[in-house]
Amino acid sequence: MRKKVILDMDPGIDDAIAILLACRSPELEILGITTVGGNVPLELTTKNALRMLEFVGAENIPVYAGMRGPIFGELRTAEFVHGQDGIGDVNLPEPSKKPAKGHAVDFIRKEVMEKNPSEISIVATGPLSNVAMALLLEPEIARRLSSIVIMGGAYATTPWGYGNESPRAEFNIATDPLAAKIVFNSGAEIYAFGLDVTMRPDAGISKNHYEEIGRAGTKTGDLIHKMLRRFVHLIEPVPMHDPMALAYTIKPEIFKFRRLHVDVEVCGTLTRGETLADLREWLPESFKKPANANICVDLDGKAFIDLLISRVVYGR
Ligand code: RIB
Ligand code: CA
Repeated sequence: MRKKVILDMDPGIDDAIAILLACRSPELEILGITTVGGNVPLELTTKNALRMLEFVGAENIPVYAGMRGPIFGELRTAEFVHGQDGIGDVNLPEPSKKPAKGHAVDFIRKEVMEKNPSEISIVATGPLSNVAMALLLEPEIARRLSSIVIMGGAYATTPWGYGNESPRAEFNIATDPLAAKIVFNSGAEIYAFGLDVTMRPDAGISKNHYEEIGRAGTKTGDLIHKMLRRFVHLIEPVPMHDPMALAYTIKPEIFKFRRLHVDVEVCGTLTRGETLADLREWLPESFKKPANANICVDLDGKAFIDLLISRVVYGR
């Protein structure tokens, strides 16, 4: 039975690679892609989702545009990381398809309420504005979803578990901390992939991987090689944040989790957007708040990268 997923994204280079991975994974049935303002403005994240689907011949999958920015506050985009077009300035043509009619939040609500309970997972790899709005409008979604798989946060569970937007906050959460607070406190079954694991040295694209991708001679390999060229001289390995969260829906057995209580700082001067995991093991159980999330703390990094390259670059 294929897993039904809704991909909620802000493409973005790593979101774009996660779309390719999802389209190349027979384990998944992609019900639709919902887009949100994040790495680049909503018009571009939406266009990039359409472009990536068209690139792999999956343009039958609907794309719904969603929230332009955070529930409260201004959107701060990241063109300096993802390029002016949001996917590495690779000059892909304009998509031939338009976004589907209707708002992303309404699509999420309709799909989840109409399908059987526990049939759908949302894989959210951008700010959580769409997911939070759907939960506010229809709280029952939290119980009907099989899971919400999140790329986001920094939980201090490993040496890499600290911020990239600030010393304590990760970009997706920091872009819309109120949305993240709503999601973590919704009662949904959450699987969160923070920088704790996505920044691990064995879970990114190394220079050797990059050169292998460049030699593969495949259409998708050439595209990814172009997308990553801006990073490969900046950071090694290049983290694959969003593909890692998506990979959990394909190969869950390579990931390890801790059940923790997490809440989100929405107004700290220095810590706004921090995902505060309660790591106090010494605290008596009776004093602890109940765990509300499965936080990924370990993975087989080689198995993840091998899966990613074989599916996306070689189409195996
Ligand atoms: O912090 C990394 C996350 O922020 C990734 O999802 C990347 O695409 C950006 O959205
Ligand atoms: Ca993203």
